[in-house]
Amino acid sequence: MKRELIVAVDGPSGSGKSTLSRLLAAALNYINIDTGAMYRSVGLAAHRAGVHPEDDQALAELCQSLTIEFARSGAGERVLLNGEDVSEAIRTPAMSMMASRVSACSAVREAMGELQKSMGEKGGVVLEGRDIGTVVFPNAEVKFFLLASAAERGRRRFEELRAKGLQVDLQQTIAEVEERDAADSNRQHAPLVQADDALAIDTTSMTIEQVLQEMLRIVNSRRLQN
Ligand code: DC
Repeated sequence: MKRELIVAVDGPSGSGKSTLSRLLAAALNYINIDTGAMYRSVGLAAHRAGVHPEDDQALAELCQSLTIEFARSGAGERVLLNGEDVSEAIRTPAMSMMASRVSACSAVREAMGELQKSMGEKGGVVLEGRDIGTVVFPNAEVKFFLLASAAERGRRRFEELRAKGLQVDLQQTIAEVEERDAADSNRQHAPLVQADDALAIDTTSMTIEQVLQEMLRIVNSRRLQN
């Protein structure tokens, strides 16, 4: 029997990637790998170590010295940075921006890309990020590119942060989402871009359930060919 599939889910922030990748992986009994959490962890480590997010040399050294792991427990999926649970600490607006800045460094991308390849190469995985279908797994059997309008993506991020009790402003959140996407799309290394063979889904006016069913339909039909 052939191995299970590699499913790539790329797209800008707030496009629904995280929620849908998690649900899709659960429905397929696949492992979910949130690659954004890995860049966020590097951003947090840099912040704590006082490393400037544009200092490529120091970032390269930092990446050699840290460990990032995912632990799956009753409390959901946890992210461990050097063994410490940083799942909440990496989700602040400041860490979103740090993640975007350190992710532009080629040494950081190389280190994280290697880690992602070793985590996903056996298949039976959903990887979500910005460059999974273009750079990390260009041969992934199924590639999705999720989209939504900037206003809708900002609104979703705003609701998410507010639900966590953070004091946020809607217009500022939309502006931050747009700023981060512009940086992620215009950087030199592995910019956010849709792979030629990716299937784009605009989630702006779709429910999570509708998008999930569409993704499941596509993955399952590909699975039958395997
Ligand atoms: O998906 P997220 O918002 O948690 O990602 C945080 C940042 O990490 C995002 O602004 C860009 C970067 N990132 C990346 O460059 N490549 C990935 N595969 C995933 C995230």
